Amino acid sequence: MATTYVGAIDQGTAGTRFMVFDHDGRVVASAYRRHEQIHPEPGWVEHDPVEIWNNTKAVVTTALNDAGLDATQLGAIGVANQRETTVVWDAETGRPVYNALVWRDRRTVDRVSAMRDTAVADRIRETTGLECDPYFSATKVEWILDNADPLKLDRTRADDVRDRAEAGDLLFGTVDAWLVYKLTGNHVTDVTNASRTMLYDVRDLEWDDALLEEFDVPRSMLPTVRPSSDEAYYGYTDADGFLGAEVPVAGALGDQQAALLGQTCFDPGDTKNTYGVGSFCLMHTGEDAVESEHGLLTTVGFQLSGEPVQYALEGSVFTAGAAIRWLGDVGLLTNDAQTAELARSVDSTDGVYVVPAFDGLGAPHWDCRACGTIVGLTRGTRKAHVVRATLESIAYQTRDVTTAMAADAGVATPSLRVDGGAVKNDFFCQLQSDVVQTDIVRPVVDETTALGAAYAAGLAVDYWGSLDELRWNWQVDRQFEPSLDAETAARKYDRWESAVERSLDWATD
Ligand code: G3P
Repeated sequence: MATTYVGAIDQGTAGTRFMVFDHDGRVVASAYRRHEQIHPEPGWVEHDPVEIWNNTKAVVTTALNDAGLDATQLGAIGVANQRETTVVWDAETGRPVYNALVWRDRRTVDRVSAMRDTAVADRIRETTGLECDPYFSATKVEWILDNADPLKLDRTRADDVRDRAEAGDLLFGTVDAWLVYKLTGNHVTDVTNASRTMLYDVRDLEWDDALLEEFDVPRSMLPTVRPSSDEAYYGYTDADGFLGAEVPVAGALGDQQAALLGQTCFDPGDTKNTYGVGSFCLMHTGEDAVESEHGLLTTVGFQLSGEPVQYALEGSVFTAGAAIRWLGDVGLLTNDAQTAELARSVDSTDGVYVVPAFDGLGAPHWDCRACGTIVGLTRGTRKAHVVRATLESIAYQTRDVTTAMAADAGVATPSLRVDGGAVKNDFFCQLQSDVVQTDIVRPVVDETTALGAAYAAGLAVDYWGSLDELRWNWQVDRQFEPSLDAETAARKYDRWESAVERSLDWATD
């Protein structure tokens, strides 16, 4: 009998990856494709859901073909996805009524600002565990229903989008739901993704009527919420479809929660940080939905079939890798690889601080009107100082959220398991350790997001028998310890906090 594997789709902000893993958690096939970032206006960020679906099919097919694998060798498929990004599509034709509104999109800033300091914001915090912010899906789906031009993407229908939603003709979902619908025909989402919509009660585990009413979202549009790893399966791929085989789609999680699973953060206190377009630090808190008093989110970590929901505290940082991309956009770098080289060419930033609040600031500040700021420039400032300050900003933002976590938990984070593109670079990891003043642990398999999605699907089909089996697969590649003394690190961090103050509430109408 041919060897079987588990496949994982990792649909991220910048592109889509498909990976195939063996029982030891080793990668046996992989393919990746970027998609277009659409910016109709400053602060607006959209993706074309059809392009994402086409890319998904392309990477799955390419990865299998390149590795000489057949789809029948896949025991299951799992999905990890950029979270909060909002898709609305026609239940009959399966066509989106508008582009996806991406988590980074700021077009609903005014709507959200008007809700700040009201009873709605309190309800959001108490019920969903989230802060009232444009980041989450609720104001995005509301915007699509109120503003989508029905003629733009779906030329077969000309009647009003909101009327069609109320008549039960439209479906809403985050990107997991969109892909699972395209793969299986079923309209479902997992509990971690539901927890990012600002519409879901994370303790009672149901859609919240009051918030649905506030954002005018008809219940008929909502997907059914299922465990992240589901023995009942979300559905099967179509034997007559692009894959040519009936494979169970048996797990899905938001990408940051997938990384939590992939990093085997199964015990309360286990913490991981993933560096992508943004960076997202999650601490597992077990069956307790711990309420943060320091600007963190209470979110669902994962749920296995038939088991209670596991919660996490999250520090969401909107701009990490995107800050490096910006350095390229303004001509300070010709490629990402130059970043560490230039940063290392100077001993310090010479007093320069870059606060990359391009999409506002997430945790722990939650200021959707914050703007990017550079302070400390002198006549002696060189390109390398600005590049180093930008790289250091990623570490300072991590320290912001680990400080909040320590305050909430009452103990300092002993170590951070890290993953994502940037952690391949040793200089970057050492910088994190020095600034954050904690051990940084890099695992052998750093594609932990895809691995976590594979684990969710593989546990559901019994490819892996227990969490203990997964623990065996996790191996340390390298551990970085702080080489900067605590006092110097604290002094520099004070200056960072002053720089952040200057970036707050800067945007005007
Ligand atoms: O919440 C947004 C997050 O899921 C995006 O992750 O890796 O695409 O930057 P990433």
